[in-house]
Amino acid sequence: MLNDSGSKVVDEVEVRSEAATEVASEAATVVASEAATVVASEAATVVAATEASSKAVTESASESASKLASEETHNPDERSDPPPTNSSPGAQPRISRKLMEMLQGAACYRAHDRWAFLYRVLWRWNDGEHEVISMADEDGARLHHMVRSVRHEEHDMHAYLRFRERPEEAGAPRFVAWFEPAHDVLPQVAQHFAKRMGKTSWMIATPEATVLWDGATLHTGEALARSAADFDDAGEALWLTYYRSIFNPARLNADIMHGHIRQRFWKNLPEAAVVPHMVTQAAAGARKVGQLDTVGKRGGTTIPIAPDKAAPERQQPSSLDECRRCDLWQNATQAVAGQGARRAKIMLVGEQPGDQEDLAGKPFVGPAGDLLDKAMDAAGLDRRTVYVTNAVKHFKWEPRGKRRLHKTPAQKEVMACHYWLEAELETVAPQVLVALGSTALKSILQTGSVTMKDYMGAPFEHEGRWVVVTYHPAYALRVPDRESRQAAFAAIVEALKTAQQIAGGASQG
Ligand code: URA
Repeated sequence: MLNDSGSKVVDEVEVRSEAATEVASEAATVVASEAATVVASEAATVVAATEASSKAVTESASESASKLASEETHNPDERSDPPPTNSSPGAQPRISRKLMEMLQGAACYRAHDRWAFLYRVLWRWNDGEHEVISMADEDGARLHHMVRSVRHEEHDMHAYLRFRERPEEAGAPRFVAWFEPAHDVLPQVAQHFAKRMGKTSWMIATPEATVLWDGATLHTGEALARSAADFDDAGEALWLTYYRSIFNPARLNADIMHGHIRQRFWKNLPEAAVVPHMVTQAAAGARKVGQLDTVGKRGGTTIPIAPDKAAPERQQPSSLDECRRCDLWQNATQAVAGQGARRAKIMLVGEQPGDQEDLAGKPFVGPAGDLLDKAMDAAGLDRRTVYVTNAVKHFKWEPRGKRRLHKTPAQKEVMACHYWLEAELETVAPQVLVALGSTALKSILQTGSVTMKDYMGAPFEHEGRWVVVTYHPAYALRVPDRESRQAAFAAIVEALKTAQQIAGGASQG
């Protein structure tokens, strides 16, 4: 149920929705096609402050960029002949479908200079600089990053938005939700829910706008609520009871659960308030009865807690030698810490020490280390200027005859060891991380549900640092055919070069 201010919010939406001129179904397209137009008009003033200012900004800037966008319809087959440039009077500029889609996505990315930046991209494209959409290009890399971030935000909003039911007698909307998106993804997310919820009416409120689905049409209006507190939800208690009853402590993996859900979403998730209690119950041996305990009972008062308090407690050793955060220490000779320049701009993250590293107590000194050294040489990167470490600090292995055979660490071990990577990140404060292989990527992103191929060749920003993803050197050693080995090696070299470029040349601060 909505409280007074919540009902007011709904009333206002109903009134405003009638007057709403912008239907969300159109909005997604409008965002796209407007991208270039808005880019042009807004950027025309801002552009002077950008690199593009060195090019002559003519009065027709606004007009030509909107032509760039609309031209897409005349050129749907993505021909590769270069577009005429703005310099030829009366020429029809063209942009490819791919660029159009990228602009469409990137236009939803919140950044103070987004329009100026997108305008620069358009301008460069129109000047024949088609590398502007390549990952190897500085602007191209940023464009890819914007597009990917927007896509992630859409997925997160699908996953973490929670509709709360209102009493039937209160009328439409039957469901309301509050969400604080990091980017302008409300129109497309509203489309997603409109398709899935049929004739059921709902409203999604965000700090920037409100969308109402009346069962047939989407209405977009301005922001009407300021925070989740505007929605007092009696359905919440029901939802929590339901959540407790379906919760199976025997299947609980708190690390994975927390790893999957980013901190900023926890505060608006109803279940965040009850998870710590259930985690404690499960840990205290309630694996069989934990579920039964709650079925059929309404809980007492649930005290909401801050998201940071929702995280389970773990051992916090002060030295690697004492670490018992997982069991890997038991079969390893020693823990292997990272090594390298204390203030390196670039940190290379591998998977875990191998047989030789375990004995030597140093990272990347075995065959994979030799290949990494060669790749660094080829990339012109001096190993002494970077910091080299691993996602997991103990060697995980299984016996095979007299040999100790490498075994991939489980995500719970990666998560347990992330504590040490975090400490290294704090001390070294690198600008760029090179994730060598999938385990490193999973550690950096703190989730097991990522696939390397989604990130390869596309540097992205994460928690204030750039991340470049490439193959693990051991892959380049063991992949069966020569051609693939060479390709993997070349990809590692390329990633190291990219990292160096991002770090601004010198790899040490
Ligand atoms: N493989 C790794 O990931 N790290 C090392 O240190 C050695 C091999």
